[in-house]
Amino acid sequence: MSEPVVLGIESTCDETAAAVVRGRTLLSNVVASSMDEHARYGGVIPEIASRAHAEAFVPVVSKALSDANMELDDVDAIAVSAGPGLAGCLAVGVSGAKALAWASGKPIYGINHVIGHIAVTQLQFGPFPKDTLALIVSGGHTSLLHVADVARHVDVVGTTLDDAAGECFDKVARLLGFPYPGGPHIDRHARLGNPDAINVPQGLTKGKSGKEHPYDFSFSGVKTAVARWVEAERAAGRPVPVDDVCASLASSVAGVLADKAMHACEQYGSKTLIVGGGFTANSQLRSELIMSGRRHDVEVRIPELRLCTDNGAMVAMLGVNLVEAGVRPSSLDFAIDSAM
Ligand code: KG4
Ligand code: ZN
Repeated sequence: MSEPVVLGIESTCDETAAAVVRGRTLLSNVVASSMDEHARYGGVIPEIASRAHAEAFVPVVSKALSDANMELDDVDAIAVSAGPGLAGCLAVGVSGAKALAWASGKPIYGINHVIGHIAVTQLQFGPFPKDTLALIVSGGHTSLLHVADVARHVDVVGTTLDDAAGECFDKVARLLGFPYPGGPHIDRHARLGNPDAINVPQGLTKGKSGKEHPYDFSFSGVKTAVARWVEAERAAGRPVPVDDVCASLASSVAGVLADKAMHACEQYGSKTLIVGGGFTANSQLRSELIMSGRRHDVEVRIPELRLCTDNGAMVAMLGVNLVEAGVRPSSLDFAIDSAM
């Protein structure tokens, strides 16, 4: 086969997305989000997201094919996120993708969404150097991974023991009265504040068992510490210095993410760090990663934002990798795996 053409379908959370990739070329990329419908509840409501996927699935996939000037018959394979994600949301995307595969006779791949975040960077930066590490951060995930071979061998080096970094920002933002999703508001205010104003803990590295997790993250204690501090200020009748709270939180979270990523690069002898996930939009994390990358002589690959947030291109790109590697397609009865 020359360059494989893959239709990628994504429905892990609140984005219904589809894209067509040929080799390393993105031919189309369509994303419909139900984010606005969740905003008034202060977080993603799985039931609402699942219904939105059911409505958006056919129009989004049709547009991805037509934008690429293709019919379903022209693709070599279909790839779909099988997890991790919200079970009801995954069920809609996976069922739809299976129906397409069944009707067309095309092979289907149920892929890991987090590895998709890594794979998509090839569209912008090309192949992975040996021993690449990846830091994937969003409202749903915070993971450090070692990429030996993106199609067959990606190991989790560390992950969050509780909240994801984006989730932590969203929770603090809610406390400060910002609308959902609050991460971008924290970012904006953090640029105006003093990062040393409040002592925000860096998050523990010991799990409940007391075992050391040098590359794991924990952000729920960070959120609690900020919440306690803010509540104490309010109880004392003092005005909350919102910019300083945001700057201190952002500096702590960005610092711990960049530090652990760089230490892991050292341990694995990696000279390249791939970054992905919607939290990558965060300015404090970006500048922290760029600075620490320079200090540690690590090339930090931060893709353009539309490739960082959830999309179909990440699924299609990983699908291309699987086809190229000769990996056997999934059977039509493969299961979703929300915790994957
Ligand atoms: O990847 P994404 O679009 O959706 C998933 O969570 O899967 O990431 C959204 C998360 C939210 O928690 C949002 O608050 C956070 O990323 N976020 C940010 C920024 N932009 C988005 N957090 C901090 N600073 C930002 N600029
Ligand atoms: Zn994601």
